[in-house]
Amino acid sequence: MADVSVGEPAGDESHDQPVARPVKPIDEIIQKALDKALYANGNPVAQHARDFLNGTWLGEPFHAALTDIPVGAWTAAMVLDGLDMAGSGKKLAYAADAAIAVGLAGAACAAVTGLADWSDVDPPARRTGMLHGLLNLGATVLMTTSLVLRKRGARKSGCVASTLGFATMSYAAHLGGQMVYDLRVGVDRTAGDEYPKRFTAVLAASRLHDGKPTRVMHDRTPILLVRRGERVFALAETCPHFSGPLSEGKLVDDCIECPYHSSRFALEDGRVVNGPAVHPLPCLDVRTRKGQIEIRTRGARRLRRGAKSMR
Ligand code: FES
Repeated sequence: MADVSVGEPAGDESHDQPVARPVKPIDEIIQKALDKALYANGNPVAQHARDFLNGTWLGEPFHAALTDIPVGAWTAAMVLDGLDMAGSGKKLAYAADAAIAVGLAGAACAAVTGLADWSDVDPPARRTGMLHGLLNLGATVLMTTSLVLRKRGARKSGCVASTLGFATMSYAAHLGGQMVYDLRVGVDRTAGDEYPKRFTAVLAASRLHDGKPTRVMHDRTPILLVRRGERVFALAETCPHFSGPLSEGKLVDDCIECPYHSSRFALEDGRVVNGPAVHPLPCLDVRTRKGQIEIRTRGARRLRRGAKSMR
């Protein structure tokens, strides 16, 4: 009798069975291609450009600020068109055309920054983000068509196109809001984390090994400890970008690199060195007493003094 091990394919049957490969969703395929293009084989110039587009220098997503331009300009164009139709003067028609042109310039900038942000967005927001972008593209095409028609003297058709563009943009803006407020894209994932106001022991010093990022808990807040020779650093353990567990990241120079999208944060003060994160990592005061590593909110002493002087 043949000896067949449980769990192993018997004979050549395994060759007959076609292996079904999971089909990747289209949004994932596009996102990976975009990410690869923006990464540009790790070119530092591409990284700087990407940081600029993400808004690392601003401390907020740059895209969110730029989207106000097309929304505001195209809303103004709708009002000006309405006044023009009510017979309030030819100048208003010119102003409406100008507002559409300004909105188009803003939409181009918002599209570039939005693409850079979307290349690092995780599901389920990835699919919503793709729809948001496609709708905005549709709105931009309609607004461009409107401007061309207006310039050719077909004002009524131009107004119809811009009204459709405005409606499309409004729904895209609604999805953008959903991404931020429901799916928490672009928000600081460490907001609301609480750290002790007074020095509190979180780990025996002997258990923190040199060069090994270590996660400890204070109440329900995870904290990252890193020993570098004589120095110990304490920061939030949650990546502000998409909640990556930084204790599973790696140390690169004087930074901790997130395992999810490779943002880098300075150990010294938590500032963002490389995006896509835009919010700095909360940094804590740390000291070693009686063999214990103790942490507290950075500047807690100063804050307490300030609170007393206000009483
Ligand atoms: S979760 Fe995206 S960089 Fe950390």
